[in-house]
Amino acid sequence: MMVCEYKPGLEGIPAAQSSISYVDGQKGILEYRGIRIEELAEKSTFLETAYLLIWGELPSKEELEAFEHEVRYHRRIKYRIRDMMKCFPESGHPMDALQASAAALGLFYSLRDLHNPAYIRDSVVRLIATIPTMVAAFQLMRKGNDPVRPRDDLDYSANFLYMLNEQEPDPLAARIFDICLILHVEHTMNASTFSARVTASTLTDPYAVVASAVGTLGGPLHGGANEEVIQMLEDIGSVDNVRPYIQDCLERKAKIMGFGHRVYKVKDPRATILQKLVEQLFEKFGHDKFYDIAQEMERVVEEKLASKGIYPNVDFYSGLVYRKMGIPTDLFTPIFAIARVAGWLAHWKEQLAENRIFRPTQIYNGRHEIPYAPIEQR
Ligand code: SDX
Repeated sequence: MMVCEYKPGLEGIPAAQSSISYVDGQKGILEYRGIRIEELAEKSTFLETAYLLIWGELPSKEELEAFEHEVRYHRRIKYRIRDMMKCFPESGHPMDALQASAAALGLFYSLRDLHNPAYIRDSVVRLIATIPTMVAAFQLMRKGNDPVRPRDDLDYSANFLYMLNEQEPDPLAARIFDICLILHVEHTMNASTFSARVTASTLTDPYAVVASAVGTLGGPLHGGANEEVIQMLEDIGSVDNVRPYIQDCLERKAKIMGFGHRVYKVKDPRATILQKLVEQLFEKFGHDKFYDIAQEMERVVEEKLASKGIYPNVDFYSGLVYRKMGIPTDLFTPIFAIARVAGWLAHWKEQLAENRIFRPTQIYNGRHEIPYAPIEQR
């Protein structure tokens, strides 16, 4: 057997062959099934992009309508899931609530028929349709309110914002939110997708696959960074404080949230699109001083860290969009999960098509042949 060099974080090691998405980290290019992200953000919708990722081709008009219809009519969650969520502590993080609720779906759909395309489609529809309802339901219930029933007359993103805020969203806000979902839906072999594929490779059910990926996404080095960015902008408080804040981070060797990426060595193309969305939102709904702070941060970080290839990533500007929409900070990562679930499911399907269980090796650096010491001699 070939012995490979150990790479912490498996940097640069291929973990799968995949035709779902492609990143060129030197040129700042991201494609889903070969289509540039900029084009999808301009012309597609989240559900159409989800279809593209999962089934490999853009849907025909009829295929898209059928998929939208199925998702629309599976948005309700079972009352027993809702009642279970009611028992969650309101101080708990919504990502933990989402992970538990996604896993609980597996209790209701325990049949596993992984080679049946109808089973795959039903699972995909159920997860894409109900995850937003779960996020919105937890948000309302932790405030002591009843969850709002999904509205069949509203599109995917408009319905989520309606369930969250109990009022119909502005059409521009709903469209911008939908574009945010497109930008977050998929990103090659990131940590949560890797987690999803490892779980999928054991041939468990898709609810366990998604629950494990949600758990992985929540950490501050991954999807959880969007929440930390807003905290950081609040702590900085003014444009004048940006330079000393960054200087202090660099001296302490602390990571600046929303910056840096394992693959991109230039600005993340999603950050560029998100920044334009921030500007569109502010033009219509009023400016936010946090944007000035963010722009100054980008300037100072570039000045200090461009030589290391550290630029804004997807998590840097997304929080400013959600904040302007009045969404609580701790829902930013669950919103990332609402989008990413379609990417995880595309990888689930791809993994199943040519499955072999993940079982890497390790380099043992412990001791051998140690005699057992009786407790009184320790
Ligand atoms: C996402 O993988 C994906 O595709 C993820 C994602 C997706 O769509 O799925 O794009 C979503 O997770 C975005 C990333 C969100 N995380 C953050 O914003 C947290 C802050 N960023 C970093 O911690 C870091 O950049 C990572 C975690 C994103 C990448 O980590 P790596 O590849 O392991 O890089 P590293 O920590 O080993 O850093 C390499 C060098 C170090 O300097 P040296 O020791 O070599 O001198 O770059 C420096 C680091 O100190 N560095 C930073 C930095 N990120 C890297 N320095 C200051 N601030 C930072 N943010």
